[in-house]
Amino acid sequence: GHDLWEDIAEVLIPEDQLQKRIQELGETITEDYRGRDLVVVGILKGAALFTADLFRWIRVPASLDFMRIVSYAGTRTTGVHRVLLDLEYELDGRDVLVVEDIVDTGLTLRFLRDYLLPRNPASLRVAALLDKPSRRQVDVPIDYRGFEIPDRFVVGMGLDFNEKYRNLRAICVLRPEVYAAAGQE
Ligand code: PRP
Ligand code: MN
Ligand code: MG
Repeated sequence: GHDLWEDIAEVLIPEDQLQKRIQELGETITEDYRGRDLVVVGILKGAALFTADLFRWIRVPASLDFMRIVSYAGTRTTGVHRVLLDLEYELDGRDVLVVEDIVDTGLTLRFLRDYLLPRNPASLRVAALLDKPSRRQVDVPIDYRGFEIPDRFVVGMGLDFNEKYRNLRAICVLRPEVYAAAGQE
């Protein structure tokens, strides 16, 4: 196979900026939840890497759980969400922090809120590494935001294109030929 970096047109957010911002978010979350304990819910697969990095900067007692939800095929949301893995913990009376890699149309986050709020958490907040507001279809609150990004399809740091490129350490834009070769955009 070829080197992943050959497919990259541009680095949007380099690794050191990502890590610095994740530390800041963790410190803010630590202040906000002082004296409480927290259930951190990472949304697989995209948020797996951000969740792991953020979780280690949270310095209040915290449990870690995961859900797996999918809706994207290539660069497009199907608008239909499937829960492939549900939570292990009960949320009743707990402070819950949902961790997402990106909020794009907002449909995934809205689905999650509708899915989790009936389980009666004491609070439900959202941390998202990336926010792409220009693509929003539904209004969803983001309590902890890493970066606002323009309307480009990005990969890396957990984000994929057809399940590839999640292992890039920066947020990147792929070469147009790569998207075109897969029959997208
Ligand atoms: C991606 C991303 C978010 C969601 C954001 O997940 O990780 O969960 O889409 O898009 P939206 O705001 O338009 O709903 P995806 O469905 O690709 O699954 P993955 O995390 O396994 O890659
Ligand atoms: Mn996802
Ligand atoms: Mg995806």
